[in-house]
This record gives sequence, structure tokens and C-alpha cells, in this order.
Amino acid sequence: QTATGMDARSSAQFDGVDLAALAGRLGTPLHAYSASAIRQRINALQQALHGLDATICYAVKANGNRAILELMAAAGLGADIVSAGELRRALQAGIPPERIVFSGVGKSEDEIAGALDVGIRRFNVESLDELHAIERLASTQHTTARAAVRINPDVDALTHAKIATGKSENKFGVSIDEARHWFAAREQLRHVRLDGLHVHIGSQILSLEPFRLALQRVAAFWHELREAGHPIASIDVGGGLGVRYREDDTPIAAEDYAATIREALAGFDGDLLLEPGRYLVAEAGVLLTRVIRIKHGEARDFLVLDAAMNDLARPSLYDAWHDIVPVANEARPETVYDVVGPVCETGDTFARDRRLPACAAGDLLMIRTTGAYGASMASTYNSRPLAAEALLDRGRYAVVRRRQHFEEMTAGEPSARHWETA
Ligand code: LLP
Repeated sequence: QTATGMDARSSAQFDGVDLAALAGRLGTPLHAYSASAIRQRINALQQALHGLDATICYAVKANGNRAILELMAAAGLGADIVSAGELRRALQAGIPPERIVFSGVGKSEDEIAGALDVGIRRFNVESLDELHAIERLASTQHTTARAAVRINPDVDALTHAKIATGKSENKFGVSIDEARHWFAAREQLRHVRLDGLHVHIGSQILSLEPFRLALQRVAAFWHELREAGHPIASIDVGGGLGVRYREDDTPIAAEDYAATIREALAGFDGDLLLEPGRYLVAEAGVLLTRVIRIKHGEARDFLVLDAAMNDLARPSLYDAWHDIVPVANEARPETVYDVVGPVCETGDTFARDRRLPACAAGDLLMIRTTGAYGASMASTYNSRPLAAEALLDRGRYAVVRRRQHFEEMTAGEPSARHWETA
């Protein structure tokens, strides 16, 4: 068994569940997640952080399915949320508010008020305007908010441009220079306790250097603040740990990541927060899909699947590589395909020139490493209902999202009979 619970010889079993039988029962496309693989990842990270006063706040955006959040809650994790919807999901799954942090550049007044209401642990504040909004709303609610300033360390995370967040040209965080002014004016805040630092430089990071650099800059600022009489009670190091999408990806080991944190933040005795998303769930997910037909084009052969960019947007959005393998393990000659979905645009392509065992209509395939930013980014584009999701756990499975019905997809769309004036 590999770390993902995948049997090395035959790919037909995932967390002890026969994938062909599962697809037969639940249909395709189907997102399947291994609970064992998720627990393994949680354990690995917790082990690596041993001895540190650290709270792992799972980034809900990676996969906000309730059952997944319940796994996180059961393991004692908190949540990193970016919307009122994610806050409700986290609470619903039993994650206590004191383990919830709130990130994002566009928190609305309603969202801030709602988060204050339930008493979340901390706001990761991304602009002065937001800081003032929190102050105002906390004052109205006669409460005190706890806040961390999100530092934009101007570090290149060496990842895809669309998921890099730590350069000064990105919309995220504020410069250390600006943050310095916030702390200098801290006394004027009556309802916000500004005593935390936050940094998140991007996602799918495969090299330690950007993390080290960002943490060093944050640490230097923490030292400076301490000298200036502004004690820092918490440092949130964000998420971003990369995973293995293809064979030659070499993810950072949890111990090495933790060692880098230990080293950069040596002497820090406040709360340490982490916000991993992808690392905990990506490799624990596969997307099961059937071949609808093979289309022999003029220049290439198209393998047309019943999954599409609406089920898994990463290849079309980021040109992301995902392994695609047949579920049945039989020897077949290799063929080169463009692997596509049925959606009516050329971007609906999972892979170009991909070597695969020769396929036939009806074959079951799995697209790997889809547990993060798969279902959570799904849409109903082309009026394709949301796919089903199943959680597998040591030989058993539970449906954790039933396949969307047409009526559910169109609910909330009355015909325009009742006209009003605004
Ligand atoms: N914390 C903050 C403030 C974030 O913005 C993110 C991700 C995370 C934590 C979690 O990052 P992770 O550990 O998962 O790398 N849809 C893209 C990824 C977008 C990530 C957005 N922010 C993809 O499919 O690659």
C-alpha cells in the first residue's frame, strides 16, 4: 500500500474499496476520497509539529465537503475560512470557533459581523480599510476582535502565477512597511487586538526556499515589533505545501517544512497557526470517469470522458497535470490520446498527447490527485449536474454528496413572471 491507500499492483482498490464496483453502484463522474489517506496526512503533519504549540487550521476551500470537515474536526483541527459559507460549513462540521481563522481580501461587513458573532479566533487582515471595518463592527457588538496582519513578503513562491500570492504585485496582504504603521497606531484601536502576524505566499509549493525566505522576513519583523513594545501572540504561516501530481514532483517532507518553521521562528513562544489545504486532501482523492467514446480526429485521437472541466477545472485553469489511469489492471498496448470532456470548449482538455493503455467505450478510468480543488471548484457549466462524492474508509464507503438532480440544479430559477421596480 502506498501513502494514498492505493494498491501498488492493481489500481482497482482504493482504501480497501473496489473502485469498479463503486462506480457501478454510484455512477460516474464520481469523486472518491480515502479517509485513511487524509488521516495519514493529518498524522504526518501533527508528528512533524510535535512539541510546538501549533494549531492546524485546514483551508476549507481545498475541499469543503462536510464529511471531510468532520474528519478534520475529529482530529482536532481548526479551519481557515474565506467566506460566510465556509464559516457555516466549518461550524456545522463541529469545528469550534476558537480554532477558526478568517482570511481573504474581500470580507464583507456581514461576513465580519457574523464571524465576530460566533467568536472566531482571529481575522487575518489584508488592508487598512478592512482593519477599520473590523474595529467599527466590533465596537457595535461591544466585543474585541483579535487580528493578525497578513504580510506580503514580496517572495516568489515558484509556482503557477495564478496561485502565487506573495509578490508585492499580488492583491494579498500588506508590505512590512505598511504593517509597521498599523502597529505604531495600534493604541487607536479600541476593539481590535492587533497582536498577530500572518503570511501565505502561494499554493503547490515544492521548494523550501520561498517558505524560508518568507518566514525569515516575518521573523525579522516580529523581532522588530517586540523591541518596539508590540508583543506578538500568534504567527500564522499559511498553507501552500505542494503534493505529487506527477512522478517527478518531489514534495517537501512534513519534517523538513516543520524544521524550517522551527528554525525561522526559534524563540517564538506564542501560538503557531498553519493553514494547509492541498497537502491534507489532494492525494486522497480520485475522480472516477468512464470513456464515452473514442473519436478519431484528423490529427489526433480523442478519448472523450464523462467527466469534464466543470468537475475538475485545474487542467483548464492552470494547465495542471493529473495522472489518468485505467481502473482495471490489464495489459494493453499503449496509445496516445488527447483526453477531453464533453463540454463545448477546447479548454475542456484533461491532457494532451497522453500515453495510456488502449481504451474502449465504457472503460473506467481514474484521474488522480483530485481531492483538493476538485469538487470544491466544480460548477454546473453546460448544465451538467454536480458529480457525486463518496468517502471511503477501510473497505466501506459513504455517499457524502449525492449526484445533483436536474431539479436541484434549476431550483431558484423561476421564470420571470413577477416583475418589480427597484
Ligand atoms: N491560506 C490561504 C490564505 C490561502 O489563500 C490558501 C489557498 C491556503 C491557505 C491553502 O493553500 P494550500 O495549502 O491548499 O496550498 N485552486 C488552486 C489553488 C488555490 C489556492 C488558494 N489559496 C489550485 O487548484 O491549484
